[in-house]
Amino acid sequence: MAERSIEIALIGAGVRGVEVYGELIRRHPLGARLVAVADLERGRAERAAQTLGGGITAFDSGASLLSAPRLADAVIIASPDRTHADLAVRAIERGYHVLLEKPIGISEREVKAVAAAAAAAPEVTVTVAHVLRYTAFFRALKRLLVEGRIGRLVGIQHTENVAYWHFAHSFVRGNWRRADQAAPVILAKACHDLDLMRWFADAPAVAVGSMGGLRWFRADNAPAGAPARCTDDCPVERTCAYSAVRFYGERQAGNTGWPVSALGPDTSPDGVRRALREGPYGRCVYRCDNDVADHQVATIEFANGVVGTLVVAALTALNTRTVKLVGGHGELRGHMEKNEIEVHDFATGEVETLQLAHAEGGHSGGDQGLVDDFLHRLDQSRAGQPVAAAATSLAESIDSHLMALAAERARLERAVVAMG
Ligand SMILES: NC(=O)c1ccc[n+]([C@@H]2O[C@H](COP(=O)([O-])OP(=O)(O)OC[C@H]3O[C@@H](n4cnc5c(N)ncnc54)[C@H](O)[C@@H]3O)[C@@H](O)[C@H]2O)c1
Repeated sequence: MAERSIEIALIGAGVRGVEVYGELIRRHPLGARLVAVADLERGRAERAAQTLGGGITAFDSGASLLSAPRLADAVIIASPDRTHADLAVRAIERGYHVLLEKPIGISEREVKAVAAAAAAAPEVTVTVAHVLRYTAFFRALKRLLVEGRIGRLVGIQHTENVAYWHFAHSFVRGNWRRADQAAPVILAKACHDLDLMRWFADAPAVAVGSMGGLRWFRADNAPAGAPARCTDDCPVERTCAYSAVRFYGERQAGNTGWPVSALGPDTSPDGVRRALREGPYGRCVYRCDNDVADHQVATIEFANGVVGTLVVAALTALNTRTVKLVGGHGELRGHMEKNEIEVHDFATGEVETLQLAHAEGGHSGGDQGLVDDFLHRLDQSRAGQPVAAAATSLAESIDSHLMALAAERARLERAVVAMG
């Protein structure tokens, strides 16, 4: 008798839901099957149900999918930040295993509600999409630390180089531009980085400070004569680094995936032009309603004395993470995009350069690694075994979120926040 497929329900048929999870599940060798998809936007769930395979039931919201009789082994929650905690709690209470997009929630109360629901349902696995933990690059850095290649870890210097164009797309014009609608950038973007720092330090944080703010993408930096939309004959179109006409229309010409797919379903040149004229992505970056910080630095002290700094930078050409880990007798320097790690040995003065193999797929192979791990663990339940916990426990994922929320408080209150 053929083995039953692992059945998955998807909440949020947007970029992550369809282009990442939907596609990875459709092609997965373990025999997983999407059985339901939910989206608030009329037509999106139906379209996804058609493109991702046959026999998929479409629902008009995450809440309606979760109120139906249980219809899958697991639920993937890939809806916007503000919906995560509520949907995750409902899914856990219904007995679904959960793959939850970050952030877990956007406040301490929400994050703790998910933790409480998970604690009350130990038979359920809750996996947070901290995809960087599943990359060969960050795993190699962790292995070098554990092997003692630099001695005891003393400091972490980590930079999330968001890239000027990516920041303009997501955090000035796009869905993550306002802290009251999504999460502050240090949580929305850098919970990954704080999770990595906590993993490297191997201890919880005890104090967090932070400075920074919205320094560049604001009206007082607008070039003279720049209209509200890049499509309205902007006089600086040819020289502006952020011209939507040139970015989406020229530099991204021919790309039908992210970031162009975020503009709407019609990614043809005409469709893109229309979206720029009418939608949020055609707005001048200096005249949006954004408020999240575009340059922020956080300082974190961990319980074992390790001290880390995190820079979250919009104004950078790099679109990757760079990190330096310093120990008593050596230093590790990593560049994620280049897949390169330097091991500096203070005693010999030697430098070993490790060039890792190029990783295919989103987030340097992290998306694939996360889905593989999640499905493998669900596969155990098909064999009648209990589902193993995720490599990254929910408790550790929550630590990174509490660090991010503490950093945001520290920034706004110009204080150092002690962590309980
Ligand atoms: N792990 C990562 O590295 C990573 C990367 C990018 C985005 N994300 C996270 O993934 C999530 C989705 O991001 P995206 O880029 O796919 O956004 P998106 O806007 O493209 O997709 C979200 C979809 O959810 C739908 N939706 C809204 N409310 C809903 C509800 N109550 N029930 C069902 N559907 C609902 C929207 O209509 C939309 O289609 C976000 O929380 C984001 O922060 C994580």
